[in-house]
Amino acid sequence: MKKTAYITGGSKGIGLGIAEALLKDGVNVAITARTQNDLNEAEKHLKTIGDAEVLVIKSDVRNLADEENAIQQVVDKWGQLDYCIANAGVGKFSSIDEMSEEDWNAVIDINVTGVFNTVKSAIPALKKSKGYIFTIASLAGTNYFEKGAAYNASKFAIVGFSQAIMLDLRSYDIKVTTIMPGSVATYFNGHTPTAADAWKIQPEDIGQMVVDLVHMNPRTLPSKVEVRPAVPPSARK
Ligand SMILES: NC(=O)c1ccc[n+]([C@@H]2O[C@H](COP(=O)([O-])OP(=O)(O)OC[C@H]3O[C@@H](n4cnc5c(N)ncnc54)[C@H](OP(=O)(O)O)[C@@H]3O)[C@@H](O)[C@H]2O)c1
Repeated sequence: MKKTAYITGGSKGIGLGIAEALLKDGVNVAITARTQNDLNEAEKHLKTIGDAEVLVIKSDVRNLADEENAIQQVVDKWGQLDYCIANAGVGKFSSIDEMSEEDWNAVIDINVTGVFNTVKSAIPALKKSKGYIFTIASLAGTNYFEKGAAYNASKFAIVGFSQAIMLDLRSYDIKVTTIMPGSVATYFNGHTPTAADAWKIQPEDIGQMVVDLVHMNPRTLPSKVEVRPAVPPSARK
């Protein structure tokens, strides 16, 4: 029986990199996002990889009913959910005196409440499969910086949330890892990846990390993983 994964924000960037890696590992993969066109493009691409199945679902992580419905679609299609990757997130960066209420709410609602909604919806299925939850936090969840008030608040929150739920869920044999990347070459915050991003972590590297972690001996759990570009341009002599 193939394992199955659910990845929020899987149409681009890190989520798509994780989807590719899990498919290559023989895992059936469901991805979500809000933009149907991007989901369609990702579906076409993902269906060329390996022989596992792909499901795309339009869902906004801000909406608990959307997430419950999406997880139900995964269970209806494949009978089980093994890996839940709460990845969807956005960045809005401005000084607190200039930050709008709208930007604050977008970051907190998607990056924090969205992760709660995804995880909460997945728990019944993960209890049955003794599954694995990944949250994608950030080094911004431990290092604060100017103009980072909303993003830092959201990622510090996710690091704390993930460690607390790791303790809540381990008695059910559900594992929780929060991955805290530094710069990754993605579409984050309106960026378009180019050759100039070659020094950054690539989405496939985070995908490889997820595959490595799900194959780790189950007696051991790396619960919080910091990962950064090995040599950023500022460190080159
Ligand atoms: N790139 C970095 O350097 C970096 C570093 C550390 C951590 N991260 C974290 O990694 C995660 C993924 O970011 P990324 O860099 O891969 O960004 P990205 O390339 O912009 O991809 C973001 C994905 O999330 C989806 N998304 C955004 N809001 C959503 C919502 N409300 N509901 C469902 N899906 C939503 C987007 O699709 P739609 O817009 O169509 O919904 C897209 O699929 C985020 O949590 C981010 O904070 C990124």
